[in-house]
Amino acid sequence: MKSTTRILCWAIACLPLAAAVTIAEINGNKYISPLSGQTVTGVTGLLIAKGPSGVWIRSTRPDNDPTTSEAIYVFSTTVGANLTVGDIISVDGKVTEYRANAAYQYLTELGSPKNVKVLSKGNPVAALVIGKDTTPPPTVQYSSLDGGDVYATPGGATNTSSENPVLKPTEYGLDFWESLSGELVTVKKPTVIGRPNNYRDTWVVGDWAVTGRNAHGSLTMSDRDSNPEAIIIGAPLDGTKNPTTSKLGDITEDITGIVTHAFGFYAILPLTALKTSVASTSAAPSSTLQSTADCRGLTIGDYNVENLAPTSAHLPKVAAHIVSALKTPDLLFIQEVQDDSGPTDNGVVSANLTLTALVSAIKALSNVTYAFASVDPVANQDGGQPGGNIRQAYLYRAEVVELDGGVPGKGGDATLVLPGPKLSFNPGRVEPASEAWAASRKPLAAAWRAKGAKRAFFTLNVHWSSKGGGTTLHGDARPPVNGAVGKRVQQAEVTGAFIAEILKEDPAAGVVAAGDFNEFAFVGPMRKFSELSGLVDLDEAAGIPVAERYTYTYDMNTQALDHMYVSPSIANSKTTKYQHLHVNSWASNADVVSDHDPSVALFNVCGC
Ligand SMILES: *[C@@H]1O[C@H](CO)[C@@H](O)[C@H](O)[C@H]1NC(C)=O
Ligand SMILES: *[C@@H]1O[C@H](CO)[C@@H](O)[C@H](O)[C@H]1NC(C)=O
Ligand SMILES: *[C@@H]1O[C@H](CO)[C@@H](O)[C@H](O)[C@H]1NC(C)=O
Ligand SMILES: *[C@@H]1O[C@H](CO)[C@@H](O)[C@H](O)[C@H]1NC(C)=O
Repeated sequence: MKSTTRILCWAIACLPLAAAVTIAEINGNKYISPLSGQTVTGVTGLLIAKGPSGVWIRSTRPDNDPTTSEAIYVFSTTVGANLTVGDIISVDGKVTEYRANAAYQYLTELGSPKNVKVLSKGNPVAALVIGKDTTPPPTVQYSSLDGGDVYATPGGATNTSSENPVLKPTEYGLDFWESLSGELVTVKKPTVIGRPNNYRDTWVVGDWAVTGRNAHGSLTMSDRDSNPEAIIIGAPLDGTKNPTTSKLGDITEDITGIVTHAFGFYAILPLTALKTSVASTSAAPSSTLQSTADCRGLTIGDYNVENLAPTSAHLPKVAAHIVSALKTPDLLFIQEVQDDSGPTDNGVVSANLTLTALVSAIKALSNVTYAFASVDPVANQDGGQPGGNIRQAYLYRAEVVELDGGVPGKGGDATLVLPGPKLSFNPGRVEPASEAWAASRKPLAAAWRAKGAKRAFFTLNVHWSSKGGGTTLHGDARPPVNGAVGKRVQQAEVTGAFIAEILKEDPAAGVVAAGDFNEFAFVGPMRKFSELSGLVDLDEAAGIPVAERYTYTYDMNTQALDHMYVSPSIANSKTTKYQHLHVNSWASNADVVSDHDPSVALFNVCGC
């Protein structure tokens, strides 16, 4: 790209003027335009699409450089009034870098268009087929600024806008999409990889090569691969609306639209609404694990039941999942149980009504009687929905497994590992006064005795701090900010040290730590937790294929925020099995019961 900027000087005033530049020269080969802020004249291009607030034009004088987009957005609510797709126009305007939020990338556009001239009409307009007329999107790395890992710390060490790297569209996903900014593209044979968001925007991948594809068709993130080959389909340019009903694995008709950056993501604005051509068949999967109703084959489930209150509309559906998908496991870890008054902030912290309502609903469906165990938190000290006082709880089938004696703790009591090992409070919370748990959920520890077992086994039901406050994988901050990661590192340290004490007392002890860790197995806090606790990731121990390790769908990725980590004596047992039941990930928005999927495992806890 050569600069054609000239400075015209008169007697007293100097006027920057860039005459008859090409669109490639405006875009340049980086993120920020080299002509940002300058007025340009005589920009010529073919009108490839119209939107409510402007038009997109493609250069009639393309260069041969894949790093410089040949298209640009001409921003003006009136400029399109007398223009038609297929017109070749000439336009003057001001090169502008726009973003609605400081966390987003900038979009290069031509603002304040003037002197619009139609040079010819009725020219053919063809979209670039992604992967055919362009290189395919990179499948692993997002940006040269991520140091190879979007979860490297510290997030936000730099920003794309300040570094403004030269685009490498065959290596980095964001560079690829940026190199097509403003272009009209076609996605062939798109697969839906996430439920539509509240604005009906929907993530897809096309027919290009991808990594991390799971058996259901969406993309699962893994260590150092968070799937930059995916793209979100935004609001249609013709004013139609994308469906709300799309679900993971649906195939849609080919999508043609404009590449842009909006709401924190590169996106394609389709010419018209998405249309499903082959709907995914997603029969609700259920557990095939068989309990032996004693210590030889104990089933243990885990489910974040999303702000469950006694009057929650989703309570009967949670009960139905526990019965039909999880097959009423012998012991169930649940998270996000609200107090008896739900989100009403009235000092109530007991969840007896909530838990009674849940076990009654399960009983009605299955004739299975669950007992429950939990510790009420101190009001408004554990984060979550204000007044809801969410906490973890255990449901258990007392004919198979019971608390191994001890006195239940109160919200402020710290349970301790005593010789034996035994717990001083059972169930009890782990170091509730630690700063690691400020405005977060304290782990709920318990010691259990399964029918026929010679000794106790131990559980920790966890719900660590969420990723709130982070930035998107497409955002300006590089690497992206992994919200509250420092908090989760502290939580890993406290939880890990507690478990290490149990295993120091008895290296053969059975320990299961499960719940919503709000973190991925390959990211710092979980690595630290495994190292300190001596527990292993059950996904690893049970040999779950990497692409099938997911309990959650977020943006372009299916991912695992929920885990079971187990002590070596349990992990190595021949009977150990593990299943993730995608009752929510595969559902349409209307059928989603909780934002997380449940999981269930089978363990022998007789000897450990
Ligand atoms: C469109 O054309 C009409 C009729 O010639 C004219 O009055 C109007 O100003 C034009 N609008 C724009 C935005 O150029
Ligand atoms: C990145 O951008 C954000 C938002 O504009 C700003 O607050 C922050 O200081 C920038 N960081 C660096 C390292 O430049
Ligand atoms: C909740 O139930 C437990 C066990 O039945 C009981 O000890 C406790 O007092 C109850 N709490 C409230 C607030 O009713
Ligand atoms: C329900 O379970 C109880 C004991 O757990 C049993 O006595 C009863 O027959 C069962 N009822 C049905 C309908 O299966």
